[in-house]
Amino acid sequence: MTVPTPDLPSLPPRLLLGPGPSNVHPSVLAAMAQPLAGHLDPAFLALLDEVQANLRTLFGTQNAMTLPISATGSAGMEACLVNLLEPGDRIVVGVNGVFGGRMCDVAARAGAEVTRVDSEPGTILEPAAMAEAIARVKPKVVAFVHAETSTGVLQPVEAIAAAAREAGAFVVLDCVTSLGGLPVRLDDWGIDAAYSGTQKCLACPPGLSPVSFSDRALDAVRARSRPVQSWFLDVTLLAGYFGGERVYHHTAPISAILGLTQGLRLVIAEGLDARAARHRDAAASLYAGLAPLGFTPLVAEEHRLPPLSTMRLPDSVLGWNGGAGEAGLRRRLLDGHDIEVGGGLGPLAGKVWRVGLMGENARKENVDRLVGALEQELGQG
Ligand SMILES: Cc1ncc(COP(=O)(O)O)c(C=O)c1O
Repeated sequence: MTVPTPDLPSLPPRLLLGPGPSNVHPSVLAAMAQPLAGHLDPAFLALLDEVQANLRTLFGTQNAMTLPISATGSAGMEACLVNLLEPGDRIVVGVNGVFGGRMCDVAARAGAEVTRVDSEPGTILEPAAMAEAIARVKPKVVAFVHAETSTGVLQPVEAIAAAAREAGAFVVLDCVTSLGGLPVRLDDWGIDAAYSGTQKCLACPPGLSPVSFSDRALDAVRARSRPVQSWFLDVTLLAGYFGGERVYHHTAPISAILGLTQGLRLVIAEGLDARAARHRDAAASLYAGLAPLGFTPLVAEEHRLPPLSTMRLPDSVLGWNGGAGEAGLRRRLLDGHDIEVGGGLGPLAGKVWRVGLMGENARKENVDRLVGALEQELGQG
């Protein structure tokens, strides 16, 4: 008896202008729908070689241990921190948003002594405050976020990384919302461990976390006094599969890696500089398009993050449709226009929107669609 194939599940065709995921190029979806080969098949391993080489290009590094972790960006964060930290080690974490806060949680759960250096959401971490804490605490690790998706701030990296290196600390950088959309130069900046996610500027589905470890960081992991608490994320074990030997560690998510292979080919074909310029241009048209509707940027111009813009909300949005307010208008954009935008997080909830123009979506035509929908709903068309 032949069993009839059930209908395929489906989702509405949303334009994803929130903080991620972003829309995926059709050829990435097509790559993911390829029939499987085994995760040790030479044909698949050749593609994995290509993925690792292209990730090195995007990260701006020669690091051999550059690989896609088989889980989302938070696993990349966890991988960088739990490999470098042992119980009792000191870490200084810069916190100017939700993801710096998450780094503190992860480090504390790894048994580290955490020193936070906070700055107001919407502002950068002050290099002088970070340098002072680093000099005082003498940490093993300094960690901070390059592109804070919760606030829309792009953090200048070099001065903090230099202060950390001068103090002999390892530097961990969150590149979740920068990789593939903005210049990332791990080797020039002196970064020891960095992580990203596939669902933002790389325009692939969520599910993989590109990470990179310097040789110096790997030496430190090998010299630990006790094994990394997480078997799955122990980079010395991951090296068995993602290094030269290509022996089984866990079953690599083949379809997701096929998608990433194609996503990275698209990035390389476009060129890193052209792609960064496209993200900057799209953000500029967003500010220009939303200004007449009364939206104002939260972040000072020189620190704005092109892939993710935080916009303060005008009264017309806060008071939209009687009591429905900004959350009601976001829901209306979704239901009536198939457009997703993000609300504020934490202290910014109800005060800002987070509009993502990431990867494939960083184009003026998407800005025009959002502005047109808002004009219609706010009666200003
Ligand atoms: C800056 C930053 N770091 C870490 C994460 C966590 O990534 P994920 O949600 O893929 O686990 C995110 C997710 O939005 C992020 O924006």
